[in-house]
Amino acid sequence: MNLWRRLSGRSRTLALTSAGVLVAGGLVTLPVTAAQAATQCSVDYVTSDWPGGFTATVTIKNLGDPLSSWNLGFTFPNSSQKVVNGWSALWSQSGQNVTARNESYNGSLPSGATTTIGFNGAWSGSNPKPTSFTLNGTVCTGGSPTTPPPSSPPPSSPPPSSPPPSSPPPGQKVDNPYAGARGYVNPEWKAKAESVTGGSRVSNNPTAVWIDRIAAINGTPNSSSNGAMGVRDHLNAALAQGAGYIQFVIYNLPGRDCAALASNGELGPDDLPRYKSEYIDPIAAIQADPKYASLRIINIIEIDSLPNLVTNTSGNAGGTVMCDTVKANGAYVNGVGYALAKLGAIGNVYNYIDAAHHGWIGWDSNFGPTADMLKTAATASGSTVRNVTGFIVNTANYSALKEPYIKITDTVNGTTVRQSKWIDWNQYVDELSFAQAFRNKLVSIGFESNIGMLIDTSRNGWGGSARPTGPGATTSVDTYVNGGRIDRRIHAGNWCNQAGAGLGERPRATPEAGIDAYVWVKPPGESDGSSTEIPNNEGKGFDRMCDPTYTGNARNGNNLTGALPNAPISGAWFPAQFQELMANAYPPLS
Ligand code: BGC
Repeated sequence: MNLWRRLSGRSRTLALTSAGVLVAGGLVTLPVTAAQAATQCSVDYVTSDWPGGFTATVTIKNLGDPLSSWNLGFTFPNSSQKVVNGWSALWSQSGQNVTARNESYNGSLPSGATTTIGFNGAWSGSNPKPTSFTLNGTVCTGGSPTTPPPSSPPPSSPPPSSPPPSSPPPGQKVDNPYAGARGYVNPEWKAKAESVTGGSRVSNNPTAVWIDRIAAINGTPNSSSNGAMGVRDHLNAALAQGAGYIQFVIYNLPGRDCAALASNGELGPDDLPRYKSEYIDPIAAIQADPKYASLRIINIIEIDSLPNLVTNTSGNAGGTVMCDTVKANGAYVNGVGYALAKLGAIGNVYNYIDAAHHGWIGWDSNFGPTADMLKTAATASGSTVRNVTGFIVNTANYSALKEPYIKITDTVNGTTVRQSKWIDWNQYVDELSFAQAFRNKLVSIGFESNIGMLIDTSRNGWGGSARPTGPGATTSVDTYVNGGRIDRRIHAGNWCNQAGAGLGERPRATPEAGIDAYVWVKPPGESDGSSTEIPNNEGKGFDRMCDPTYTGNARNGNNLTGALPNAPISGAWFPAQFQELMANAYPPLS
């Protein structure tokens, strides 16, 4: 996958009983007790209970002076009650006493502001709510002080029983599901990463779970390239981890990977009915289970599919019969539309559609038409653009996030760098500038104005000794670009197991304007494709772009592929590659 296509251009309010015992599942507004001058607060504590477990959503409102850090304290009435794992705060428990301290990103709490934190808990017998909360050691009275301190005027904000603004009611999604949330760490990938020396330095990063065939929904214990855990197993593990979000890749379109061979799938081009009923419907049924309502479930939708309909159909150099077929029969457009509609209808599910990368659709001839194709799919099969939270770029690819020593507007001796062999008239030199521009384009054609972009930074670090430390020589545009570029590939069209690549930015939310998160969707260390033909029962073919001895084709300017030797089939664990990715990580690993 990831071909280069230059040429082919979410209260009930319950009264608190005197005994402090509450009915499960309600919202509590706390009684007035002592108050200290500057700190005033109210706390809403809402739980959703099931036998033996519960999720608590705790909304803290600052009714006093502004705070730059905070810690919340409360006591469970019952000795069986335990915090299992929490989010948006650092949680600890000693006996029945629980403390939640702010995270580095949410310590600031202005007067009148609220912050919402939460945890998954365990109980037996009964699950009564705590009867008192403290904020920075002061008991929250839930109202204005009797004698307001001179420095702090009585709050003008609504009473604490009003619903917390930062915790949306059911069915209302947050703008950026990554913000303020901890990502699910796939234990299967973590184990593989830790099997390689030094792997524990990165193994606690969230990576996506690829649902790359029907059997992966329930788990495929005997597969060479997939783990034994199914979708439910991962969701249960995410709850147990206290994760805020989990990422899945929806990847099983009919006629998958139509312009390449390494990631062909199990469904033939006419299998759209099976895609809907045997693949999307069962995934949607699991993701819609109320048990998982506290998780933000993120779906990355169909890598590489829609851009192929623009750049790799007939009329384009390198067009394929399979791409023509799935364009003509609507398999990709209707499949993606169906997935968006079905999954987007779930209140805590977020869809991001794959939007290739700059070295594929960064040319004018591909940019606009690809945006239009994404819109066509987002409005197919009963879907609307409202099912789309955003888009992802650079999935499983190697394009640099930022090229610090080259700007697209640079010239060398009067010649634009766009004329260099490497850039080859592209409008972008890196993924960040491309992602931001493409976001604007998508909004301009009718996607929601709050869409956000993701950038897969799993393997675009390009550190190590080969990393340039300044611009290239100004002898020519080529010396300037080749000497200064961070992306050290032989050609930007090379996409398979690239030698010299390193881990990129570690996953994090809201890193730049318009960008929801840097993510690791391709789990580092999983192969892109085998370097020689390897028989398998997954539908995976042998693509010579994964063969280091292949001298290339029109799509990579007839260059060597730059692929690592001895690679297993796509998705299978490739320890030598993981080793190299760690060695060349940028930012470097310590
Ligand atoms: C493969 C999938 C695999 C994914 C993640 C893709 O190239 O086709 O089978 O799950 O990579 O490694």
